[in-house]
Amino acid sequence: MKLYIKELREQYNMTQKDLADRLQVSFQTISKWENGVNLPDITHIPRLADVFGVSADVILGLEPMNPKADLRKYDGIDYWNENRELIKIWKALYWNEDYFEFLVRDVWKFDRPMDILDFGCGYGFLGRKFMPLLPKGSSYTGIELDEGQIKEAQDYFDQTAYSHQFIRQDIYTYEPVKKYDLVVALFLLSYMHHPEQLIQKMKESLRPGGMLLLIDANLEVEQAGYFSGLEKEENGMPRPDFIPVWEYEMSHQEQDYRMGTKLPYLLKKCGFQHIGARLSDQVTIYEPSDEEKGPMNDIFRYVYEHEDCYRGGMNYFMNRGAGLQKASEYMDYYEKTKDYFQSEDAIAVKTSGVYFVYATI
Ligand SMILES: C[S@@+](CC[C@H](N)C(=O)[O-])C[C@H]1O[C@@H](n2cnc3c(N)ncnc32)[C@H](O)[C@@H]1O
Repeated sequence: MKLYIKELREQYNMTQKDLADRLQVSFQTISKWENGVNLPDITHIPRLADVFGVSADVILGLEPMNPKADLRKYDGIDYWNENRELIKIWKALYWNEDYFEFLVRDVWKFDRPMDILDFGCGYGFLGRKFMPLLPKGSSYTGIELDEGQIKEAQDYFDQTAYSHQFIRQDIYTYEPVKKYDLVVALFLLSYMHHPEQLIQKMKESLRPGGMLLLIDANLEVEQAGYFSGLEKEENGMPRPDFIPVWEYEMSHQEQDYRMGTKLPYLLKKCGFQHIGARLSDQVTIYEPSDEEKGPMNDIFRYVYEHEDCYRGGMNYFMNRGAGLQKASEYMDYYEKTKDYFQSEDAIAVKTSGVYFVYATI
């Protein structure tokens, strides 16, 4: 067992000597506590709590270290700008090319040129996928606030013959003037604090008879469709229950982990008709020995190359309501998964849990 001393000390920019002086112990003693070699005498717990201005439960890891300190602002652009590589890696796990083509050609069957408007378009991914499949004369417009991503989208489309335009604006303050045949948003609403407000704006952007298409995941569905050999009895590593963390995120307006499944309800509430929904049929079978099936490797590389990722992960979970023990359980699971995926005979199966929800006005 290890107490949450190093993490708190670093958060307060204190050296081991600073803390040792406050508690009148040697800095070697602090080092031993932090490394789990020794535990502090019980009389030190209230003193530690006093130095850091937290409850004894925080020192013991029973309470989150600093609630909300690390809560990400997904509703906004900074996180996405900093994690552009991750957004692209995710596509390998969540985007199903042939299923999308099937929806466009056989379900939606657009038979006339379509003017598309993409809310929170990022680097224009959805436009890149739609335009080659739509009748000639179609156009793509993206609204996005992040300058870096808009530039990437613009540079890409400038190399193509497709009619395109990018509007750099906050989607909450965007005033729909022009009308479009198809309004879309990909992996957007689960992160937005006011999804209904945005759906209303999307509705106002549609021509009569136009179609709204929202694409979002449900992490519960994704998890239910996940299995790795690590979970076999002999490996003894059952998957921890992530739902309490997601519930915490949801109640703190970080992300709504069930958004994909909720979308038809939201569309009905906002006055849409002919609501339809599809669930991506993609199942990724991951075998590390197969180079083509590397997206999981990419995710782990991205996460684990991040400096101090164990501590970052612990903070992530503890700031989302997990005590020290539960947070260690989550991180142990991740570490074991990473190690398991290094082995040649590893295998994992994963659904994407991505909903395509569409409706007309
Ligand atoms: C999860 S990303 C999805 C991006 C893109 N649709 C895709 O799938 O590649 C969410 C996007 O919404 C953008 N965004 C977030 N809040 C925004 C706001 N208030 N106004 C405009 N864009 C916003 C972010 O910059 C980010 O590009």
